[in-house]
Amino acid sequence: MATSSRRSYTFSSNLRMFIFLFLTAKPISSFAHQALHNNPSFDPHISLFGDARVEDGSSNVQLTRSHAPSSGLLLLDKPFKSTSVRNVDQPTSFSTEFSFSIAPGNCDGLAFVLIPNGFHTRFQGQGPFGLSGENTFLGIEFDTKKDDKAGNFNANHVRIDIHGLESVRVSNLSSLNLVLNNGDVLKSWVEYDSSSKLLQVRLSKHDQNRPLNPILAYQIDLIEMWGNEDVFVGIISTANAESSQISSNVNVYSWRFRVRAVQSWMHSLPADPRGYMDKDSKEVREEKGKSCALTILARLIFATGCGALFAFLVLFMWAISVSRHTVFPVKCELGHNDFRYEKVNVIVEKEDQCDKV
Ligand SMILES: *[C@@H]1O[C@H](CO)[C@@H](O)[C@H](O)[C@H]1NC(C)=O
Repeated sequence: MATSSRRSYTFSSNLRMFIFLFLTAKPISSFAHQALHNNPSFDPHISLFGDARVEDGSSNVQLTRSHAPSSGLLLLDKPFKSTSVRNVDQPTSFSTEFSFSIAPGNCDGLAFVLIPNGFHTRFQGQGPFGLSGENTFLGIEFDTKKDDKAGNFNANHVRIDIHGLESVRVSNLSSLNLVLNNGDVLKSWVEYDSSSKLLQVRLSKHDQNRPLNPILAYQIDLIEMWGNEDVFVGIISTANAESSQISSNVNVYSWRFRVRAVQSWMHSLPADPRGYMDKDSKEVREEKGKSCALTILARLIFATGCGALFAFLVLFMWAISVSRHTVFPVKCELGHNDFRYEKVNVIVEKEDQCDKV
């Protein structure tokens, strides 16, 4: 009797706990989730947290509300591992591209982050990009706040932040004729190559192609940073109620994320990190150009060989058919004795010649 009441008590407390968790958990807008699920511009299985939502009838995600404070997070459901799942020694590379717009107004901008498991439960939007207190993340921040920390930077820069301590690289977008928060749609590419351990960030206007030169490049060993830990990939925007109460709308129009395991034999290829760092993609491009030229040459040689072989075959067949045609009428005149004799004579002469030599 006592055990059954205790059991029912624990059951009801579990139920209460469940209901409590259910009600207090940061809402994942399941509707928005569905809406994104059928959107070809987005990876499937992206969850929305905080104020992030998909407006009725629109195909883009609005990350923040127009009243500060507001914060929104897009997070891929599947974690990223710095090493391959099957082989721990095999590092993984990734590439991602997303397009976004930031309207003029008060907000921190937008950040692309790789951050350890459980961030969505800790995400309260506090501090720039809700990252204060986080200490093992990699963030690319498209920052629309004047930065007093990193060399008094203007309110229009992109930076790479590691561990939440400091910016390791900053790019002044004003000198590149790009403006983050004029409402224009921009597109960014963030790529990490695990063999050269190089992280590259590119940014362009939405209708332009992927630029050849990155705006930022930084060498970092993600395996050293996270080992085999699960890391989640997200896009964040925050607007803190500091100065004005009107925050700017931040929209995300597309987002795709790709992972590629690098073979360990490729990993051992010599990569001069300094060369990569300084001359960046130029060297990579030259390398690519060289190998491209070589493959073209190889293909050309192969094609020429095939053509020659084909031509030879055609000639051979033609020769056979021609000789058949010429032999045939001869066969028909089998009754012609002179011809036969002549032929025999020729053969005999030839044999004589051979003997003389
Ligand atoms: C950023 O670039 C603009 C335009 O070239 C320049 O006026 C400004 O001083 C630069 N800011 C910093 C912090 O370098």
